[in-house]
Amino acid sequence: MSVAALVLAAGSGGRLGHPLPKAFVLIGGKPLLLYSLETLASVQEIDCVVPVIAGADLDRFRALGLDGIPKLAAPVVGGAERQDSVAAGLAALSNHAVLNQDEGSLVVIHDAARPWVRPAAVSRVVAAARRDGAAILAVPVADTIKRVSDGRVIETPNRAECWVAQTPQVFRLGLLREALARAEAAGRLATDDAQLVEWLGAPVTIVPGDADNQKITFAEDLAAAGHRLDRAPGEKK
Ligand code: CTP
Ligand code: MG
Repeated sequence: MSVAALVLAAGSGGRLGHPLPKAFVLIGGKPLLLYSLETLASVQEIDCVVPVIAGADLDRFRALGLDGIPKLAAPVVGGAERQDSVAAGLAALSNHAVLNQDEGSLVVIHDAARPWVRPAAVSRVVAAARRDGAAILAVPVADTIKRVSDGRVIETPNRAECWVAQTPQVFRLGLLREALARAEAAGRLATDDAQLVEWLGAPVTIVPGDADNQKITFAEDLAAAGHRLDRAPGEKK
């Protein structure tokens, strides 16, 4: 059973407010997306790593000269919404020799905006998806969560049951393909990939992740990432 990884890097990073597209912003002198590409390529179970890049950034991506990264496939052009980028990546993978049209192959979906994911966590979530069909990294919430509408609390879910979803999220190719097709037909946009599978009624396994596998979204996240490297120079995780 083959395993392919999509690294989603086709967003603009509007909330970051940086002159460069988020995936290309430097952290410790290295473009953000490189952290994820290198980490996923280093995971033994992963056979190929496919970057999903905005069409407008293709030249910028090629200029990085990443030929030295093992397992790196040609970039795929992403779409307007994150889900469109997943669909573009999946369409490219479906024809990819590595997956050999095998519906049981696994697809690892990771946000380039999460540079600190650890190889061991990737291996754990791949193993769970191999067993169960769909698995995601997540961490328990520290705070109490309120569901709110019009400024009023509707509900307080039991905190012990609340987890923060991270990436990678890993799915059997056939399951993800069906989930995405259904959502597209229904005109539904999910906020993560697991939700697509949940809409099918299929189970999704939670794999405890690491608290520091955080997404870089705002300028302060970028500043924190820089400080992290200052504290541990040369260390990536
Ligand atoms: N992403 C993508 N294609 C899109 C939108 C997002 O591949 N059309 C990717 C981003 O590059 C990022 C990940 O999905 O790695 C998570 O998205 P987010 O953190 O929201 O990044 P952006 O959409 O780029 O940022 P913003 O929402 O602030 O514009
Ligand atoms: Mg976004």
